[in-house]
Amino acid sequence: MTDVNTFSHPILITGGAGFLGSHMVALCLEKRIDLVVVDNLSNSDLSNLQTLEKHFNVTIPFFNIDIRDQDKLKDFFNEHRFSAVIHFAGLKSVAESVANPDLYHDNNVVGSQNVIDCIKAQGIKNLIFSSSATVYGDPQYLPIDEDHPVQPYNPYGETKAQVEELFIQDEYFKTASVKLLRYFNPVGSYKCIIGEKPNGMPNNLMPYILGVARGEYDFLNIYGDDYETDDGTGVRDYIHVTDLMEAHWSALMDDVIGCEIYNVGCGKGFSVKEMVKAFEEVNQVKIPYQIQPRRDGDIATCYAAVDKIKNHLNWSAKLNLESMCRDAWSVNS
Ligand SMILES: NC(=O)c1ccc[n+]([C@@H]2O[C@H](COP(=O)([O-])OP(=O)(O)OC[C@H]3O[C@@H](n4cnc5c(N)ncnc54)[C@H](O)[C@@H]3O)[C@@H](O)[C@H]2O)c1
Repeated sequence: MTDVNTFSHPILITGGAGFLGSHMVALCLEKRIDLVVVDNLSNSDLSNLQTLEKHFNVTIPFFNIDIRDQDKLKDFFNEHRFSAVIHFAGLKSVAESVANPDLYHDNNVVGSQNVIDCIKAQGIKNLIFSSSATVYGDPQYLPIDEDHPVQPYNPYGETKAQVEELFIQDEYFKTASVKLLRYFNPVGSYKCIIGEKPNGMPNNLMPYILGVARGEYDFLNIYGDDYETDDGTGVRDYIHVTDLMEAHWSALMDDVIGCEIYNVGCGKGFSVKEMVKAFEEVNQVKIPYQIQPRRDGDIATCYAAVDKIKNHLNWSAKLNLESMCRDAWSVNS
């Protein structure tokens, strides 16, 4: 078990202005851990970090760097030392990745290789990478455990699988503590003060529901109601972002050497229609929807086996669907 007092340098949080990264910043500030954020603000702005600065009465060191910019990234690592790196920076829209796979490869894979090169040059040994359940593609069995074949169904998932391999195949990481966390579907907000604020049209379900609830969109498009699920709409494993960050904390504190992969989810699936119903009931807001054809790259059902992370890192999700819907809306309403 890592002792936080052994962190002689800050933790680097790449993508720290985004939805999940800013929640990790919040957790570190709560635990009084020094941190530095790198982000190019391509899918975020500074508002979450500014809110946290006010809330915690601190200044968050922020560097506007694109991780694809190798020279700038190298200079940055030459000027700062880190005890750990949590690598969230990346593009995450399945639909956009289908339309522009080269952008996704360049941003997510080439960008991550640059981060990895800098990590190795500095000799950092405590690392977490944001992977995704998307690497599993269309599940061969449910719940999906970490031994399930990796067979991504879209270019976004392919980039995540490729970056996992960059860590797994590299001899350097056999001497480091590396956690590849395959998130399922994070929703909710930190203490209802920061939340998800994507630039432009949301791609994930919850931010889209929030947009409809705020009146920005007239209705929710549900892509496909003819999947082989109970109500025909896609089933996913949702996890409260507070639980997800606690999983990161457990991963950061675990000092077992080697690359380990963990699913991070609740271990239960909910359909799109169930999510809409839960959101409406908890928040007393109507979410009109229209059924559209299936979207390229989407699958019917996906939920996690979560025994490994419970057994190894002693972590399991605590917050239920009602908390996720309530907390997501409370920061957005
Ligand atoms: N939210 C999810 O549903 C989910 C699920 C599984 C995995 N993930 C992964 O978790 C990570 C964080 O996701 P999120 O929901 O916070 O997304 P987000 O878009 O809110 O945050 C990602 C951040 O990375 C930044 N970024 C993107 N490309 C960059 C680049 N080239 N250089 C520097 N910064 C860059 C963006 O500006 C953004 O602030 C991503 O890697 C994503 O693929 C997210």
